[in-house]
Amino acid sequence: MTTQEKPFLTDVKTLRERARKQITKGAVTQSYGAEKDVIVDLLNNSLATEIVCVLRYKRHYFMASGLKAKAAADEFDEHASEEQLHVDMLAERITQLGGEPDFSPGGLNTRSHSEYVKGETLAEMLTEDLVAERIAIESYGELIRYIGDKDPTTRRILEEILATEEEHADDLSGLLDGMEL
Ligand SMILES: [Fe+2]
Ligand SMILES: [Fe+2]
Repeated sequence: MTTQEKPFLTDVKTLRERARKQITKGAVTQSYGAEKDVIVDLLNNSLATEIVCVLRYKRHYFMASGLKAKAAADEFDEHASEEQLHVDMLAERITQLGGEPDFSPGGLNTRSHSEYVKGETLAEMLTEDLVAERIAIESYGELIRYIGDKDPTTRRILEEILATEEEHADDLSGLLDGMEL
């Protein structure tokens, strides 16, 4: 029986030899399979989404500060920092997989799942942010289902990000509650 038929039964010695031989390939091991490039591309789309989220929340933070809407401004500021953390987590994983994180500003809006919407009033900003969070939640859910057992490390990172996006959506719904739209 080959190790391909029974991937979980590969003995420790073989695994160690393989790991030593492939040490130059960083975190990518042989069992990872050919889908690595696809996953790197998908992660780059998520990276673009997170960059757009940082930019949108930054604008909303400064605009809401001008409107003297402190509670919302504080939330926007916190979200911007957390989206920046997601940017870093995704970029780090992409490089671990042997890919290149795409930070190019050209085409950012088309690579991103969610849009950059300026929002003029506080209600508009909160609504646009909630829409963007819901899109992020949907696409991370999809990505996690696609990855399945193919790459547990990437899946764990995405699950951690997803949990934060759900908190963000919750915060925004809370702020929108009772506001006139
Ligand atoms: Fe995020
Ligand atoms: Fe978020």
